[in-house]
Amino acid sequence: MDRYAVVGHPVRHSKSPFIHARFAEQTGQVLTYTAIEAPLDGFAHTVRAFLAGEGKGLNVTVPFKEEAFQLVEHRTPLAERAGAVNTLYLDGDTLCGTTTDGIGLVRDLVQNIGLTLQGQRILVLGAGGAVRGVLEPLLKQDPATLVIANRTHAKAEALATIFDDLGRVEACPFDQLEGPFDLVINGTAASLQGDVPPLPDGIVSKHSYTYDMMYGKDVTPFGRWAEGQGVQNVHDGLGMLVEQAAESFYLWRGVRPRTAPVLEALRKGL
Ligand code: ATR
Repeated sequence: MDRYAVVGHPVRHSKSPFIHARFAEQTGQVLTYTAIEAPLDGFAHTVRAFLAGEGKGLNVTVPFKEEAFQLVEHRTPLAERAGAVNTLYLDGDTLCGTTTDGIGLVRDLVQNIGLTLQGQRILVLGAGGAVRGVLEPLLKQDPATLVIANRTHAKAEALATIFDDLGRVEACPFDQLEGPFDLVINGTAASLQGDVPPLPDGIVSKHSYTYDMMYGKDVTPFGRWAEGQGVQNVHDGLGMLVEQAAESFYLWRGVRPRTAPVLEALRKGL
């Protein structure tokens, strides 16, 4: 049986085994997908042991995405620019890495939520690994402008420079933002602390969409902020989680699973 897994630390609460089991059932693919907790100093060893034991591919999650980037022998151009790898696969004996996070986000926005990103004004909050991982697929949708705002402004400027050949991308401090934006994506870790970045009034209108890359049983703090601003289209990152998994599954198996029933089941189980 072909073996796959997600490697992280901690990884106990990962929803990836559930998602991939549903994908496999639905498409008739025969495989196993488990969660492996690697010691913080043992990521490379864990990957090698898994692949030596007939493992076919791996997902990588926090905190190993940058280490996976260093470990692989070949990176896709997408992973190269993202600076991180969340999907490992073998091409012959060569260990290859790519990232499916940004594709997953765009697919959730465009196909599930029904947004057209072309010509839109997009604001992205945060400038860490999570944001860097999604900028290229967002810019490939050809928005009118993509503004990056971050608590540490220099990090937003550095990201804008890395991606500036792909479209109109600029950095702007929180207090100088001028809205309204059509779409605001929260890629900061602020929600984890129950926080919302310090956003000025007027950056959203009631026609705006907001998207938090985090998700939870309840509306996230950023989602609550958006609702308080009168935004009607408030979304969280559960769809991105399912779509990035579907892209990894497609890469490994060559079959595209349907994501809607899996997203619905996950939402019910939160
Ligand atoms: P990740 O890989 O999840 O992106 P990260 O690289 O540590 O994690 O980045 C966390 C992001 O959340 C950063 O943009 C961080 O801002 P700084 O660069 O200024 O540190 C942002 N962040 C974390 N907590 C925040 C808070 N309470 N308010 C605003 N931004 C916050």
